[in-house]
Amino acid sequence: HHTRKRLVMGNWKMHGSLAANAALLDGLAAGAMRAGETQLAVCVPFPYLAQAQAALAGTPISWGAQDVSVHTQGAYTGEVAPAMLADFGVTWALCGHSERRALHGESSDLVAAKAASALAAGLTPVVCVGETLADRDADQVERVIGEQLAPVLALGAEALARLVIAYEPVWAIGTGRTATPEQAQAVHAFIRAALAQHGAGQTRILYGGSVKAANAASLFAQPDIDGALVGGASLVADEFLNIAAAVA
Ligand code: G3P
Repeated sequence: HHTRKRLVMGNWKMHGSLAANAALLDGLAAGAMRAGETQLAVCVPFPYLAQAQAALAGTPISWGAQDVSVHTQGAYTGEVAPAMLADFGVTWALCGHSERRALHGESSDLVAAKAASALAAGLTPVVCVGETLADRDADQVERVIGEQLAPVLALGAEALARLVIAYEPVWAIGTGRTATPEQAQAVHAFIRAALAQHGAGQTRILYGGSVKAANAASLFAQPDIDGALVGGASLVADEFLNIAAAVA
């Protein structure tokens, strides 16, 4: 019944070292077959993109960056242009992870501009949205998600068909407190309806927030959950592959 290709993506955040990554990447490459038809990807810190490329080229696992610049080149110290990412075989760019929104003041307009920048260079943006616990307690989930999505939806149907949305409730990130499958599905259905209104009802929507092997299957059983964006559990090859295997 699930026609959209499933995607399980790791977000390493600011973790890793050459030595630790080598073991993790080898473990992922060795076990990639366990994912079956599910697509696998890892988003690594910028300095390790070349390492990921060397370790994963020729495997079914693709690699991505955790951010991307809206600029293509120039006097933007510390920024990384999408074409630079493409130079390292990158296919994915996270845009607007909640940690960047919260810690780096990224607005929803900037996040949408980053998505457009990634698309222009042939990368697939993974646009992250999600409400805080205060938003949820105040019954503001759909308003907040709607506001975060609005400038992305304005990119139009063609762009929307080429990107991925990740719903990551902030209160579920790194807290061990996963959204229940029903809570997640309700927001995914809301996002799906918004995408459909803009001509992109088949855009993939990932769930993120304390996903682990033990809760993956019940999340993936939901009709509008097309995969997962995995933080902590993506740092352990076996656990990450078990998440992917839960849908395979
Ligand atoms: O981007 C993934 C993330 O924010 C979820 O993190 O550690 O709760 O799986 P975690």
